[in-house]
Amino acid sequence: MKVGIPKETFPGEKRVAISPASLPSLIKSGIEVLVEAGAGDSAGYPDSAYASKGATIVLSRPAVFAADAIVQVRAAGENLVTGASDLQWMRPGQWVVASCDALSNRDSVEAIAKTGATLFALELIPRITRAQSMDILSSQATIAGYRAVLTAAMELHKLFPMMMTAAGTLSAAKIFVLGAGVAGLQAIATAKRMGGIVYGYDLRTACREQVESLGGKFVELQIANSNSEDKGGYAKAMDEDFYRQQREQLAQTVSQCDVVITTAAIPGRKSPLLVTAEAVRSMQPGSVVIDLAAQRGGNCELTLADQRVMDSGVTILGPTNIASDAAYHASLMFGNNVTKFLQNMVKAGQATINMEDEIVRETMVTRDGKVVHPKLQNVHQAA
Ligand code: NAI
Repeated sequence: MKVGIPKETFPGEKRVAISPASLPSLIKSGIEVLVEAGAGDSAGYPDSAYASKGATIVLSRPAVFAADAIVQVRAAGENLVTGASDLQWMRPGQWVVASCDALSNRDSVEAIAKTGATLFALELIPRITRAQSMDILSSQATIAGYRAVLTAAMELHKLFPMMMTAAGTLSAAKIFVLGAGVAGLQAIATAKRMGGIVYGYDLRTACREQVESLGGKFVELQIANSNSEDKGGYAKAMDEDFYRQQREQLAQTVSQCDVVITTAAIPGRKSPLLVTAEAVRSMQPGSVVIDLAAQRGGNCELTLADQRVMDSGVTILGPTNIASDAAYHASLMFGNNVTKFLQNMVKAGQATINMEDEIVRETMVTRDGKVVHPKLQNVHQAA
């Protein structure tokens, strides 16, 4: 089987779907790798690094799409700017393995279905132990949580750690992390290591222990029926009355902190609004809000995706592709995830689609010209 790695074309995307570090494992599984020239440049992986690990460098888009399977960081649905231009190269039976925001961008899924390609949506990998090594959401969220803290530290006009110096005593910065999933926990750990006083909050009560084990203080709210976790480990959507109470109570902690990092998400839905404009305005001038949920509307009322907002002296940033800023490691982790995903289906170079396998079933979005994912069946019928 031949796997092609095209250069990413989404504006500002620096990652590449597979780094040279994954090539020995792929080759061991009987997979031949084609890399579009320059695909790894912006992540710090020159063509020579791929070639020295056994990949073939190809010079054009059609040449890389000649592969049996294409692996991308962003296929059409996750790249609404330039992703559609690849549809012309996709063909019946070809695998496209990529993040594609399938549950939100149904038109893109339909468009890929029409090419006859078999699309595997990496963001739909189930959260089961066997699939942990394939989980791109976790690997990229780890990087996002870490980078969010570094960004906040650079924006803040204070230092994080307490310092007693001959020039005066500096009090430690207070950092509040809302949403203690993968990104949130990494943010808590990073802010703690940097010497801040860290608070964490999540509506899944299982998070309390995790926040505390990283040295954070868990913020407890007084709201009835506030534990919310589905069987996949994700938060469930709550009603508006719950969110209103949540915002009101969170505002008290927000107002006392120098940095607020929000990471709260509900898969496939708009992000819950947790930090109101009023709460931001109660923060001290010079404070910073980093909203990692900006792509789906944000957790903060004042967030504008990928823009710098200044309000009452507070800086609000909503970066939507922060993992790409650490493209070398982000690509390395993404590539290792994808390699494990491929190795689950390709043995000794032979590709098999086993619909008994939960990982295959839950990620396969299109096949034989149709949208096949159960969560998107209504789209197929409408087409
Ligand atoms: P996510 O990115 O969907 O959400 C981030 C966090 O926001 C979650 O912890 C969620 O509970 C929280 N949240 C949502 N609405 C909220 C609200 N209104 N207020 C406060 N917090 C809110 O989730 P993520 O980080 O991708 O993973 C969530 C959990 O999934 C992990 O903590 C873990 O338990 C589980 N997981 C399991 C894996 C596995 O077994 N393979 C791999 C990765 C995660």
